[in-house]
Amino acid sequence: MASTYGAARVLVASNRGPVSYTVGEDGSLDAKRGGGGLVSGLSAIGSDADALWVCSALSDGDREAVRRGVGADGVRMLDIPADVHADAYNGIANSVLWFVHHMLYQTPLEPVFDAEFRRQWASYEAYNRAFAEALAEEAAQGAAVVVQDYHLTLVPGMLRELRPDLRIGHFSHTPWAPPEYFRMLPDDVAGQVLRGMLGADRLGFLTERWAEAFTACAERFAGGLGGTRVGVHGLGADADFLRARSHEPDVEERMAALRQEIGEGRRTVVRVDRTELSKNIVRGLLAYRRLLETHAEWRERVVHVAFAYPSRQDLAVYRDYTAEVQRVADEINAEYGTPGWTPVVLHVKDDFARSLAAYRLADVALVNPIRDGMNLVAKEVPVVSDAGCALVLSREAGAHEELGEDAITVNPYDVTGTATALHEALSMRPEERAERSKRLAAAATALPPAQWFVDQLDALRG
Ligand code: G6P
Repeated sequence: MASTYGAARVLVASNRGPVSYTVGEDGSLDAKRGGGGLVSGLSAIGSDADALWVCSALSDGDREAVRRGVGADGVRMLDIPADVHADAYNGIANSVLWFVHHMLYQTPLEPVFDAEFRRQWASYEAYNRAFAEALAEEAAQGAAVVVQDYHLTLVPGMLRELRPDLRIGHFSHTPWAPPEYFRMLPDDVAGQVLRGMLGADRLGFLTERWAEAFTACAERFAGGLGGTRVGVHGLGADADFLRARSHEPDVEERMAALRQEIGEGRRTVVRVDRTELSKNIVRGLLAYRRLLETHAEWRERVVHVAFAYPSRQDLAVYRDYTAEVQRVADEINAEYGTPGWTPVVLHVKDDFARSLAAYRLADVALVNPIRDGMNLVAKEVPVVSDAGCALVLSREAGAHEELGEDAITVNPYDVTGTATALHEALSMRPEERAERSKRLAAAATALPPAQWFVDQLDALRG
């Protein structure tokens, strides 16, 4: 039997992997390494020859790479049929599970669990099975497997059946819905999700709150946790990487360009997000408009630097949201702008170096999600900002559990309250701001990505 086992001793599984490919005009494949906590976390064991990352082929370039047998070391991409992937990723993971855990449903955006949903659910099962089978094939006897996120909730249970010898972990980067909301899912589907997760030896969450919500769901709908352990690992910002990267020449260049756009001597309120409903960008803009309306002293003296990068554009509700963000920003500029002052500087083209430039220039960081597993921007800006920043932070972001004391807390639905918080943040004395920012940065970097990953593995093996 043992001879059929693979060689990998540490495996990660996630929908989005650490590398993506594009096909050049001459047909050559160009690989681009992704950023983000998970990628830098895994690079901690990257030198480990027997580590393997299993992920989906997402682009045409990725699929071409699989077809040609090209690949990065330590990465195996699964070429799931495009329609199965679209159903699983767009249909189930991003339109249903993401909405449930972020409690984003509201009229008229309520779920309809009809025949189309059932068809998509079958794809979600097939997609999860493809991962479970690949992991079963690649994993050495007794290996540790850490499955990531809501795309792959069924994998632990499926893998347990195929390979009872493995140590299986699952980590959620999202919140978990409380039972009253989770029960919105059809009973059999909810049961499958919970049993799938409970196939793991250990489940990881970003905060106590999400871990408790999962446990409550397991108790109410699945007879309890059984033998599954639950733990919390609050992924932090990577201070060394961010500080070094944010002083490279391309970032300095973008700082100069941004300074031009902002104008001499003005304060900045900075936000950087995927254009994502849960990030609550529109209410953030409305709060900024309210600030300009009620505190005329800030007109001409502040600029809202808002970077809203495209995300999940296959879904109509994301496209609509993207258009609304643009529309509200334009409205504010039309209403308050003057020949020498653009109140909102909105950029939508993804540019990491420019994000870092904005972080460095931030006087105030605005992070106001409706719900967020953690929110790394809240942790990154205080680390990078040159003069220290004040943080206006939603109490519904996981990061609030660690940063709440030195942030200015807002209820994300409360637009006037958020406007008041922005005024308070902009008015903070420089010494207080610098001190708070220092404490925020210390709390934000307590568990850097590499350590976060190693802690999970140790807990799984222990
Ligand atoms: C969240 C999820 C991740 C996901 C990321 C970007 O942070 O927890 O799993 O990769 O959003 O979303 P995308 O759909 O572009 O992968």
